[in-house]
Amino acid sequence: MKTHTLLMPLDMHLHLRDGVMLENIAPLTAYSFSGAIIMPNLVPPVCTLKDVKAYKERIMAAVANDFFEPYMTLFYKNYDRAFLEDVAEEITAIKLYPAGITTNSEDGVSSFDIEEMRPTLEAMSELEIPLCVHGETDGFVMDREAEFMSVYELLATSFPKLKIIMEHITTKAAVDMLDKFENLHATITVHHLLLTLDDVIGGMMMPHNFCKPIAKRPEDLDALLSIALEAHPKVMFGSDSAPHPRDKKESCGCAAGVFTAPIALQLLCEIFEQYDKLDNLQSFISDNAQNIYGICPEFKEVRLQKREFVIPDTYSGVVPLYAGKTINWAIQDIE
Ligand code: DOR
Ligand code: ZN
Repeated sequence: MKTHTLLMPLDMHLHLRDGVMLENIAPLTAYSFSGAIIMPNLVPPVCTLKDVKAYKERIMAAVANDFFEPYMTLFYKNYDRAFLEDVAEEITAIKLYPAGITTNSEDGVSSFDIEEMRPTLEAMSELEIPLCVHGETDGFVMDREAEFMSVYELLATSFPKLKIIMEHITTKAAVDMLDKFENLHATITVHHLLLTLDDVIGGMMMPHNFCKPIAKRPEDLDALLSIALEAHPKVMFGSDSAPHPRDKKESCGCAAGVFTAPIALQLLCEIFEQYDKLDNLQSFISDNAQNIYGICPEFKEVRLQKREFVIPDTYSGVVPLYAGKTINWAIQDIE
C-alpha cells in the first residue's frame, strides 16, 4: 500500500475559537500538526499581553497530551513601540483585518492611512514581527481581493523590511504579486485549491463551501495550484479552518468559514498526488513556513496511507468540507 510521510506539518492560519468549541476543535489540529498560527479574532479580539498569555494557556489545556505549538498572534491596532517590545516574545505575528470585512473583524482597521500606521509598522519591522493581512476591500465580492493589491503594494514599498503575509490568497492577481515584492509572502488554504464559485453557488447553495474570501474563477484556482504544487518558496499552507456550529452555517445568514482542520493533510496528499507532485508537499506543508517565519518546530512524523477514507459528517457538531465524501488518503499513524 502506498504511503507518504510528512514531517512537522504546520498550519500557518488557523481559527480555534474559545470555550467548548476550542476544547472540541483544538485536539483535532494538535493530533496531526506540529504547530499553527492562531488567529486572534475572538470576541472581544486578542489585543493585550494578558489576553495572549491567557488564550495560549487555554489552548495548551485543550490540547492536553499532544505536542503542539500554538504560535500566537495579536489583533492589529496602532500599538505603540513600548507595548510591542513587551509583547514581542509572546507572539509570532500580528493579524490585520479591515474593519467588518469578515467574521469578528469589527474592531479592525477602517482606513489604510499609512502615516497613522507608520509608528506601529516601523516598530514591527525593527522588532521583526510579521504582519499577516486579510486582504479584501469592501468592493464587489469577486473583486475584493484584486482591489486590495494596491494596499499590499503600498505596505510592501513603505515598509520594505516588514515581513507581510497575504493570507488565504484566492486570485491570480495575488499570485502575481508574490514575485514583485521581496517582503510579500502568502498562505493558501486547501479549500481554495479545490473550489471555485461554482462549488459555492453554481448549483444549490453550499453553506459549508462558503468563506471569506470567497472561492473565485477557474483561472484563479489554476494560478493557486501552480504555486502550491511547485511549493513556491514564498508560499505556505494555512488552512483558515474556521469552525462554526452547524446551525450557524445551515441557516438564513450563513456564517463565513470552511472547516478543514482534521482532513487537510489527507486532501493535500490527494491533490499533490493527482498532479504527481507529492515530493513538493513537504515544502508546502512545513519547510517553507519554517524558513519564512524562522521557526523550528519539534519533531512530529505523520504517515499517510493511500486508501479509502470517508470524511465524517461532523466533528463535534461542526460540518467539515466534503462531509460524507470518500477520499483516497487517510492518516495511518503519527510519531
Ligand atoms: O471565512 C472566514 N471565516 N474568513 C475569515 O477571514 C474568518 C473566518 C472565521 O473566523 O470564521
Ligand atoms: Zn482566517
